[in-house]
Amino acid sequence: MTAIDKITDNSRYARCIESSKRVRWDIDEDVIRGRRFDTGHKFLPDGLSLTDGFTTLSSGEKRFVSQIQGRTYANIFGLVERFINAKVLELSRDHALGDQVVVEAMVRFSDEELKHQTLFRRIDAMVGEVLPGGYRFDFDPDMVARAVLGKSTWAVLALTLDIELFTQAHYRQSIDPDTELSELFRDVFLYHWKEECQHALLDELEFLRHDSTLTAEERDRAVDDFIELVAAVDGILQAQAAADAGYFAANCGRTVEADEVPAIEAAFLAAYRWQYIHSGARHPYFGKVLTSLITESQDQRIQAALATLH
Ligand SMILES: [Fe+2]
Ligand SMILES: [Fe+2]
Repeated sequence: MTAIDKITDNSRYARCIESSKRVRWDIDEDVIRGRRFDTGHKFLPDGLSLTDGFTTLSSGEKRFVSQIQGRTYANIFGLVERFINAKVLELSRDHALGDQVVVEAMVRFSDEELKHQTLFRRIDAMVGEVLPGGYRFDFDPDMVARAVLGKSTWAVLALTLDIELFTQAHYRQSIDPDTELSELFRDVFLYHWKEECQHALLDELEFLRHDSTLTAEERDRAVDDFIELVAAVDGILQAQAAADAGYFAANCGRTVEADEVPAIEAAFLAAYRWQYIHSGARHPYFGKVLTSLITESQDQRIQAALATLH
């Protein structure tokens, strides 16, 4: 890296600190503001919950689906932000005795992810107050993080950049002028997006920095790790789609025939794959950064793996 590159990088980290200070928000004062959830509202916008795919359900039932998915949204983010923060803390040690601007940017990143995990735990509990009992999310964030962090840093950073870019795509869906969408959930998207913009910039800087230390063979193995991580995410989504379909059938207020359940489960899975895999994988900026680092055949391996998740 040349001296000019270093100065440019430093100013990017400095800009992230500035933005982070400018947008900083408080869970109670800015996001929740004493509000509660109302089951008359959708919790996720149609562009994320893909309720059109639930072809056998009434509009009220589709609203219930969006509420279940909203609770799962909070739980999935609580889960992924555990390993993201652990990786940020690990990477910040590389900078600890160097450029203190970079250290500050990373510390703020970590602090924000801790706050976001608290926010998502609050959202999960608040949704639990207004929906029927019996909802399940059986993944332990620490156990998942331990498995993820066992993969190469390159793969974890690729997945992290993917996630932090798709939170921005999700925010864009939430600004849809849908009067049935919960204002409180809309604010969760808005405030999360405000801080995630800086995270995605930092992910990219750290991803490129780390990538430059790898040999071609190490990067090739890391591509396999990334594919394995995406498959592991899909495993979680498959299990949660089954759990949420079961919860829906048990609580929707009518008898759901056995032959209808697989269609409902498939629609939950299609929505979750869109939310947590394809909305990031198809994000143009993610594709741009990733393809700048990998060969055409590595890109084809990734695309072939993604194509199986439909
Ligand atoms: Fe976050
Ligand atoms: Fe983040």
